[in-house]
Amino acid sequence: MDLGLQGKKALVCGASQGLGFACAQSLVNEGVEVVIAARTLSALEQAQQTLTEQQQMWAQKHHSKAFGVHIECADVTSQAGRAQIKRNHPEFDILVTNAGGPKAGDFRQWQRQDWLDALDANMLSPIELIKSYIDPMMAKGYGRIINITSSAVKSPLSALGLSNGARAGLTGFVAGLARQSVAQGVTINNLLPGTFETERLRSNFTHQANMQGLSFEQVIKDRLDKHPAKRFGSPHELGQACAFLCGIHSGYINGQNILLDGGSFLGS
Ligand SMILES: NC(=O)c1ccc[n+]([C@@H]2O[C@H](COP(=O)([O-])OP(=O)(O)OC[C@H]3O[C@@H](n4cnc5c(N)ncnc54)[C@H](OP(=O)(O)O)[C@@H]3O)[C@@H](O)[C@H]2O)c1
Repeated sequence: MDLGLQGKKALVCGASQGLGFACAQSLVNEGVEVVIAARTLSALEQAQQTLTEQQQMWAQKHHSKAFGVHIECADVTSQAGRAQIKRNHPEFDILVTNAGGPKAGDFRQWQRQDWLDALDANMLSPIELIKSYIDPMMAKGYGRIINITSSAVKSPLSALGLSNGARAGLTGFVAGLARQSVAQGVTINNLLPGTFETERLRSNFTHQANMQGLSFEQVIKDRLDKHPAKRFGSPHELGQACAFLCGIHSGYINGQNILLDGGSFLGS
């Protein structure tokens, strides 16, 4: 299926690795010019190289030009980081918001600053990014905004209270805004990952293993035994879902929270 994305321009945040990188890969494979943002320059440059090679292959196959892969070494949770990106790239057709998730723990230990940090990272930053880019999208009559949130929005995890709270705030805000932008061709949807094979998942499992006095392999086996699909998601699967939602055929999918969890969430 041609998603009709050739020549469109996307900002993918948190995209030097993991789910953000997978979204950038899938968009590059649809002929999108991408800007990838993350905080570590060396990882960004490595991701840029991989994406550029992919883009050149795409261009050759489609007898087209390569549209470019740009990097922004920026903390998207900071005002300065977002301003830097806006300065260099004032408009996008596609915005994928994403950043690291907040720490786990017991809410009795969290101070006000812990909450403010979580709200900044997982609620206010995506909202600020949307605020920066949505009006030009609406003026042009085309835009796709995807927020990578978490399955915890539907199925809260007790140790991830900061994430549960901050992401619920973003979800509520987006639900209202999506109904105001769709008539101008701009859809906003959230992708809710369950367990995907990324660096973050590996570090979560290492933490869990240490807390429970188990080996890393035991934690994985336990999770897989309980998982209806008996496997974790591959980032590529989420990237492809993201590209589909960004495409021209998805203009009537709006304001949705789309779970990608292999059926782990027990609900219909
Ligand atoms: N993987 C899963 O199973 C899963 C499940 C549920 C929810 N999620 C959520 O999905 C999101 C992505 O997870 P992931 O597994 O892809 O994580 P990951 O493998 O750790 O990758 C995170 C990416 O985001 C970048 N990043 C982190 N903080 C950033 C910031 N402040 N500004 C700019 N870039 C930033 C990282 O690079 P730098 O560190 O260099 O900036 C990296 O490129 C997280 O919010 C996570 O909580 C993941």
